[in-house]
Amino acid sequence: MIMTNTIIQFKQVTKQYDHDTAVLNNVSFEIERGKFYTLLGPSGCGKTTILRLIAGFTEASEGEILFNGKKINDVPANKRQVNTVFQDYALFPHLNVFENVAFGLRIKKMNSADIKSKVKEALSFVNLDGYENREIKEMSGGQRQRVAIARAIVNEPEVILLDEPLSALDLKLRTEMQYELRELQQRLGITFIFVTHDQEEALAMSDEIFVLDKGKIQQSGTPTDIYDEPINRFVADFIGESNIVSGTMVEDYLVEFTGKQFECVDQGLNPNEPIEIVIRPEDLEITSKERGKLQVRVDSQLFRGVHYEISSYDGDGNEWLVHSTKKAVVGDEIGLYFDPEAIHVMRFNETEEEFDKRLEAYEDGEEHGK
Ligand SMILES: Nc1ncnc2c1ncn2[C@@H]1O[C@H](COP(=O)(O)OP(=O)(O)OP(=O)(O)O)[C@@H](O)[C@H]1O
Ligand SMILES: [Mg+2]
Repeated sequence: MIMTNTIIQFKQVTKQYDHDTAVLNNVSFEIERGKFYTLLGPSGCGKTTILRLIAGFTEASEGEILFNGKKINDVPANKRQVNTVFQDYALFPHLNVFENVAFGLRIKKMNSADIKSKVKEALSFVNLDGYENREIKEMSGGQRQRVAIARAIVNEPEVILLDEPLSALDLKLRTEMQYELRELQQRLGITFIFVTHDQEEALAMSDEIFVLDKGKIQQSGTPTDIYDEPINRFVADFIGESNIVSGTMVEDYLVEFTGKQFECVDQGLNPNEPIEIVIRPEDLEITSKERGKLQVRVDSQLFRGVHYEISSYDGDGNEWLVHSTKKAVVGDEIGLYFDPEAIHVMRFNETEEEFDKRLEAYEDGEEHGK
């Protein structure tokens, strides 16, 4: 048998619940063993549908789903090496913590001594030692969430699917659980596929993120890839805060927007090609009108704890959001300075493959002292 790192593969998978609309449209991706993946996207984009297809709770209309290299489209849910943690945890309210975790092992007819030691070990993994006899209704939200995870890991699946498991928790507990879940995944070395529509959560937790919109993967990559090099307006807008304006790629390393030309680091586009540019709010620096590359008027300002969030407008009416540790004065005319590297150029309708090729060409050029 060939050992590969790929554990799950989608090959041109389409899912239609009814006849006319595809909820997933020709989706292909690979999941590598032992990593933490996040499916990120707005409500209705198809995240839960992907998990249901992996778990076997629903069937693909077209395409192939492979697990360890074998097609599993027709393998029933209970024969797949996958466990799911649902958004509402789906614990059994009439069973105590021990019996909730033991449930899958009892179905497998494991002997009771083994069940006891396995449940104890799983509860210990999620820091719930000694909670065996507690009733579910006597547990807090965070504790219930951990019981649900213990119930999944006790079966020693190869993959754990987590559908927005933190969304019911308050912000502080949610942040705590993000650390715990990430740490648990690294300790267990099991592949996690985690669903969220919270971009900060995705950036904080994942090895790899798939950004989804309207049943298609818009971009996949590490959190820094996706944050630094968003492929299109949707991704730039969805991941973090962005200033996005239209412009023209005059020539390699020269871009025009707001009626002015700026040095940039992008190349390999057509001369005078219409493009969109992104500049992150933290890459804009407040300076004097004279030194600024852009001249704007401060419209409003919010203190966000670590930085000020300043909204300003240029003469064309484009909004420029700035994150700055310096305070601005509402109504003032100021300059905004940025480095050529701060400008990220996005081509209209570029596919992920085309985008990756262009990025590689740029990086090769840099290595050869371009
Ligand atoms: N059983 C079903 N029958 C018909 N349409 C469905 C069914 N389940 C989901 N859909 C539709 O498929 C689309 C994707 O649903 P899905 O549950 O995958 O979205 P999601 O990304 O998980 O959204 P959310 O963040 O709101 O949970 C939605 O438009 C939804 O209405
Ligand atoms: Mg969902």
